[in-house]
Amino acid sequence: MLATPRTRLEILPADDAGLLLAYYRDNQVHLAPWEPLRDENYLTLPNWQTQLSNAQAAFDAGSEYRFVALNPARTEVVGVCNFTGVARGPFQACYLGYSIAKKYEGQGFMQEILEAAMRYMFNDVGLNRIMANYMPANERSANVLEKLGFEKEGYARRYLKIAGQWEDHVLTARVRAYQ
Ligand SMILES: CC(C)(COP(=O)(O)OP(=O)(O)OC[C@H]1O[C@@H](n2cnc3c(N)ncnc32)[C@H](O)[C@@H]1OP(=O)(O)O)[C@@H](O)C(=O)NCCC(=O)NCCS
Repeated sequence: MLATPRTRLEILPADDAGLLLAYYRDNQVHLAPWEPLRDENYLTLPNWQTQLSNAQAAFDAGSEYRFVALNPARTEVVGVCNFTGVARGPFQACYLGYSIAKKYEGQGFMQEILEAAMRYMFNDVGLNRIMANYMPANERSANVLEKLGFEKEGYARRYLKIAGQWEDHVLTARVRAYQ
């Protein structure tokens, strides 16, 4: 568990799959423009139990770190941030994806959560580079990344299939700060 001033970040146990199901169900309209199309299995409890079991196994293997930010009472999900595709060797890098609940948007929660999670990824996991990519129209996402010190590294055409369309993305990365 990682504490932030207003949340707690957990690799959520599969027993708490209902919390994540509620998050994705309640924020379906909010998230849809920025995510892949989902099938009919997506908003079911068994799906989120499986996803969380897989996330725990990936955490244990050191290949993915899927953090769920909860309110202090652990009654609801504030947001999520997923560090995936962890590469070791000379690369020491991963990808980052994130979202915040509509009701918590615009209050600095995403920045607060990512600051704590990225500190862990750099200092405890030992990575050197975190890569995050966003659609040019996603100004809120661009703002979060800029505040966190991500730098633009490129522009990839038709990079991800989002909401059923191949979408261009701005490629950014934050490199670990060395003293
Ligand atoms: C992208 C997304 C995570 C950004 O969330 P956010 O809440 O805007 O991000 P932040 O936590 O940085 O909050 C910034 C806002 O909080 C405000 N704020 C209020 N209190 C604050 C505080 N204590 N600290 C920092 N900012 C604060 C800032 O002024 C800013 O407001 P503004 O957007 O009106 O300028 C969110 O819009 C989202 O989930 N979108 C859908 C999914 C998505 O796009 N994911 C990313 C795909 S690449």
